[in-house]
Amino acid sequence: MLLPGPSREVKNKPVPNMMQAVVVHGPMDYRLEEVPRPEPRAGEVLVKVEAVGICASDVKAYHGAAKFWGDEHRPAWTETDVIPGHEIVGVVAELDDAARRHFGIEVGDRVVPEQIVPDWTCRYCLRGDYHMCKTHNMFGFKRVTPGGMAQYMVFPVEALVHKISKDLRPAWAAFAEPLSCSLHGVERAGLRFEDVVVVAGAGPIGLGMVAGAKAKSPALVVAIDTIDAKLEIAKLCGADVTINPMHENALQVVLGLTGGDGADVYIDGTGNPAAVLQGLTMLRKLGTFVEYSVFKDPVSVDWSILSDDKELDVRGAHLGPHTWPAAIAMIESGRLPMDKICSTQLPLASFQEGIDLVADAKRSVKVSLIP
Ligand SMILES: NC(=O)c1ccc[n+]([C@@H]2O[C@H](COP(=O)([O-])OP(=O)(O)OC[C@H]3O[C@@H](n4cnc5c(N)ncnc54)[C@H](O)[C@@H]3O)[C@@H](O)[C@H]2O)c1
Ligand SMILES: [Zn+2]
Repeated sequence: MLLPGPSREVKNKPVPNMMQAVVVHGPMDYRLEEVPRPEPRAGEVLVKVEAVGICASDVKAYHGAAKFWGDEHRPAWTETDVIPGHEIVGVVAELDDAARRHFGIEVGDRVVPEQIVPDWTCRYCLRGDYHMCKTHNMFGFKRVTPGGMAQYMVFPVEALVHKISKDLRPAWAAFAEPLSCSLHGVERAGLRFEDVVVVAGAGPIGLGMVAGAKAKSPALVVAIDTIDAKLEIAKLCGADVTINPMHENALQVVLGLTGGDGADVYIDGTGNPAAVLQGLTMLRKLGTFVEYSVFKDPVSVDWSILSDDKELDVRGAHLGPHTWPAAIAMIESGRLPMDKICSTQLPLASFQEGIDLVADAKRSVKVSLIP
């Protein structure tokens, strides 16, 4: 943990030495604690957190998924004694002139940081692919980059920081993070005007993908989810057709929409292994599959669908590089049903209820904590 700094006055409001924060002690062991407020070093920014969203990936980390805590094939990536939370919005509380110049921000500005804190030295960063940074420090997963489930946090010099309108509700502004991810998933799809695009999953990520796909003006945007209420929100985000596979045969509907050929593009934002085979099945030959999900368990499918059967283009997607300005503009434009997407706001102390709500998926869309 960082050492406490001296108590100071910022714009006549005292900045306390101690703060409330959620601290990760291990899988299924997150605790609300009183910890020292972080002290910004030269060039860094102290931010008073206004809202932090809980992501499906946070919930997978909470439940001990191998992708985060390691297994016989890979080392652990996330660490203990970390403050979680990477969907962050806050107000600048303190910064020096170097930070003011570097980030182009001022005390009182409302800001959202990109979730990854790149090292700016590795081969990926040097080519602009900073989202694949070799060091891969992300807010909320590493001790060097404590996250936003706290009253205050620090943006290090390497962070990418964007200003966002103060007119938005805090939870809406924090949605810039998942929306940037969704838009990157859409960019990876390389959409064309004639495409029939299927977005699987109408959670926060899928809803943003529906909105992003619609913004690209393809022939049709189809949303699939097993929860009708989420499909209603998908329509408000721009879905032309919605399918609930619990009530109808999703494959037949998509074949019906495409002259029997199948979809041109399938973007998976479900986190459900079953949605992978669903996509491979409903894509046309030479179609494009974009995988955005993070899975708790390995997925197995007949890999020859990719080769012999359909010669598919399969593209992974990670985080939201270069899509933050578009995501922020989309939220600020008022085009999205933000009140429906940001369904639930809870105080920091109710973080456990928040995690359980996201794990359940049926009773909320985006859950945010308000420290
Ligand atoms: N790659 C990355 O960088 C990155 C970043 C953020 C999130 N993610 C992942 O993206 C995925 C989606 O995130 P989210 O927050 O929207 O999750 P979520 O759990 O809130 O939403 C998933 C939705 O998919 C629906 N669903 C489940 N099975 C389905 C199926 N077979 N067909 C259609 N819909 C189905 C669920 O009902 C739910 O509404 C998660 O796996 C998450 O971990 C990846
Ligand atoms: Zn790097």
